[in-house]
Amino acid sequence: MSDFATIVEFGANPATELRERTIAWLQENVSEHRVQHILGVEATSVELAQIYGLDVEKAALAGLMHDLAKYFKPQKLLEMAKAEGLELDPVDLVNPHLLHADVGAIVARDDFQVTDHEVLMAIADHTLGRPGMSALSCVVFLADSLEPGRGDDQILQDLRQHSRQNLITAVWHTCDYGLQHLITARKQIHPRTIRTRNWAMSESLKAAASS
Ligand SMILES: [Fe+2]
Ligand SMILES: [Fe+2]
Repeated sequence: MSDFATIVEFGANPATELRERTIAWLQENVSEHRVQHILGVEATSVELAQIYGLDVEKAALAGLMHDLAKYFKPQKLLEMAKAEGLELDPVDLVNPHLLHADVGAIVARDDFQVTDHEVLMAIADHTLGRPGMSALSCVVFLADSLEPGRGDDQILQDLRQHSRQNLITAVWHTCDYGLQHLITARKQIHPRTIRTRNWAMSESLKAAASS
């Protein structure tokens, strides 16, 4: 076999190269525990994408890149969000960590040359969701909360089962789960989480009423 044929047959797959480059970057920039969570989100996103007939490569990429900015300092998150012209809620100013999702999409675009709008939005939507978000965003949003490393209590098991049966209802119930956790922990609630929850709830009820 000529060298050329070898290159053609076994040449590097761009998706594999990007995955390896991303994992190497993550190993430098986030904890080992976080890398395991990220790989869990990647795998769960792929599983859900297969169930719902979505683009599996996009789901894998968004899952792998969803927490790129997880460990950025609050000041850096605020500066990058402002430079991008993102609209900041007072809750963002008190809890800049919530911006790691939107800022992660900026890192994916600028440092990894990801241009796919749907992938970038799925990264940006993974923490707070967004009313009207795409099915891919729903998948990564669910995978972030439900990947195996999140635990195994009965509520999580039920949510995982839901996530494989009805995407929008699972988003609604997962929002409720997150909101309950925030209330118990006496933490602020971002209004976008509530808007996402109300959107998912009304879509879910509408679909149930028309079936
Ligand atoms: Fe995150
Ligand atoms: Fe995450």
